[in-house]
Amino acid sequence: MRILVTAGPTREFFDPVRFISNRSSGKMGFAIAACAAARGHAVTLVAGPVTLSTPAGVARVDVVSAREMLSATQAHLPDCDALVMCAAVADWRPKAVSAVKLKKSAPHSAVLELEPNPDILTTLRPLKGARLFVGFAAETGDPLAEARRKLEAKNLDLMVANDVSLPDAGFEVDTNRVVLVTHDGPAQPLPLLTKREVASHIIQWIEQARPKKR
Ligand code: PMT
Repeated sequence: MRILVTAGPTREFFDPVRFISNRSSGKMGFAIAACAAARGHAVTLVAGPVTLSTPAGVARVDVVSAREMLSATQAHLPDCDALVMCAAVADWRPKAVSAVKLKKSAPHSAVLELEPNPDILTTLRPLKGARLFVGFAAETGDPLAEARRKLEAKNLDLMVANDVSLPDAGFEVDTNRVVLVTHDGPAQPLPLLTKREVASHIIQWIEQARPKKR
């Protein structure tokens, strides 16, 4: 299969040296790309700014902002059978971007006005066709309820509910605790696993789901 994976954060600049972003290290998405390639799939990895090296056999496209990630994902979507949106895309970006570094001069407090970024999964939904779409729901409240809501809202085949409030799960760490949520069947909680092991569950789910979609 041809699998398109996104990973890492996006950065939304408001002057040449400052941006808003989030804690995503790219580890979960890179583990998915590495696992998929190791299992013989053709993998394209759209990566936000991270310090990880490209897994063996993976074609990598580097992006910075949410809008760049949307363009790159859109460009590669026609050539894929499954999209795994693991990236932590910034939901907002600063409304104004200064061409020069903003000065600290008075007033000392400043207000940053934000506007929404496009939602990549929602934008790509009309192009889905028979492709499998897998999303992640990074939550600090009720991960399962939110994962079910986003599964429907974004028309996904699989939602990986990720409780990012736990110290051994979610952002930056090497382990993760997730629940696999689909339209039919009970939610499938996985135990504490390495991100590579979580990746293996997700890729195996994709391998098994794919033939049913044809
Ligand atoms: O990178 P690590 O440090 O290893 O951390 C891994 C992780 C916590 C980033 C990862 O496991 C994870 O949960 N990624 C999804 C983070 C996220 O943005 O969740 P969300 O609930 O805000 O978004 C839901 C889904 O919509 C996600 O698949 C997301 O990629 C997608 N999305 C979000 C915003 C947006 N503008 N467009 C999108 O397509």
